[in-house]
Amino acid sequence: ASDEVYRASTYAPVNIAVIKYWGKRDPKLNLPTNSSLSVTLSQDDLRTHTTASCSSSTPHDSLILNGHDQDISGARTQACLHDLRQHRQQLESSDPSLPKLSTMKLKLVSENNFPTAAGLASSAAGFAALVRAIADLYALPLTPTQLSRIARQGSGSACRSLMGGYVAWEKGTAADGSDSVAYEVAPAHHWLEMRALILVASAAKKDVSSTAGMQQTVASSSLFEKRVDEVVPKRMKAMEKAVQERDFEAFARLSMKDSNNFHACCLDTDPPIFYMNDTSRCAVRLCEAINSHHETQSGKAGAICAYTFDAGPNAVVYYLADNEQAVAGLFKGILQGKEGWEGKRGGSVKEKEDRGVL
Ligand code: PMV
Repeated sequence: ASDEVYRASTYAPVNIAVIKYWGKRDPKLNLPTNSSLSVTLSQDDLRTHTTASCSSSTPHDSLILNGHDQDISGARTQACLHDLRQHRQQLESSDPSLPKLSTMKLKLVSENNFPTAAGLASSAAGFAALVRAIADLYALPLTPTQLSRIARQGSGSACRSLMGGYVAWEKGTAADGSDSVAYEVAPAHHWLEMRALILVASAAKKDVSSTAGMQQTVASSSLFEKRVDEVVPKRMKAMEKAVQERDFEAFARLSMKDSNNFHACCLDTDPPIFYMNDTSRCAVRLCEAINSHHETQSGKAGAICAYTFDAGPNAVVYYLADNEQAVAGLFKGILQGKEGWEGKRGGSVKEKEDRGVL
């Protein structure tokens, strides 16, 4: 029937980078100045659920997020929709019996299971879910890596949310962005013991957006040159190795150093950008204290927790399940009801286990 409604739904989880993406060499295509690596959280933890539907009577393209109409006229969203429609069109022209979904308007309905305004990496999960829901609706025969190229145009970090586990985004060298894609370093089950504690700093005021912050950093930070040319290429190799070998000590040291290097570059801009605040620095000190206490107790070197901060004051603390009490237990005990923190969540990279909200 001509008014048939076609529909597909999907989930995409949030990912938190341990080697940060910061800087665009091509702002239009979202091509980065450096490669990055992240851990995708569990679907049961922070994620976006998106349903894409279309019919010949759908009046216009629309996106509703948590019940609110969103503006989708921006170039980034339009680039994703355009590419997906073009892929569908190719399918339709090679098989005329297929319904002409590429000519129909799209209705997109998304739900985040976490507060969008909390400054958690919502655009990553959002664009990854949007792209995959439409790709599923269109029955596109594309791999996650091919889809990552499309999602990257919506939000750079979104390309890493199309895969679970440990994911790298290769910066690529092509001017058209064809080789700037995400790939799986290791699946979640390779290192299933990994946990992420998310600490939301309640005093979060509006940050400098990541696009504006990146632009300012590329334009005015001298530390940034060294980061891009020397620091990150070495760290990417070392981090991939740490993941392959399940070496938490190396994973932790590299994560913390890279987060600090990224925030140092932000401070080195004109005017300086401060994403971390006193509350954030308190989380850094607590991680340092936990690690040195562990070293004293065990008599050997070895970090058991690692902090990392994105473009905002919230902390993400990685640790292994065996150290749940020593890390998450301690954080929760100390921060319970403390001013400056509004919520604490524990998450895993596991695909199915429900860890819930703390
Ligand atoms: O994807 P964007 O444009 O929101 O940039 C994300 C930047 C960081 O979260 C700070 C780092 C990263 O690699 O996710």
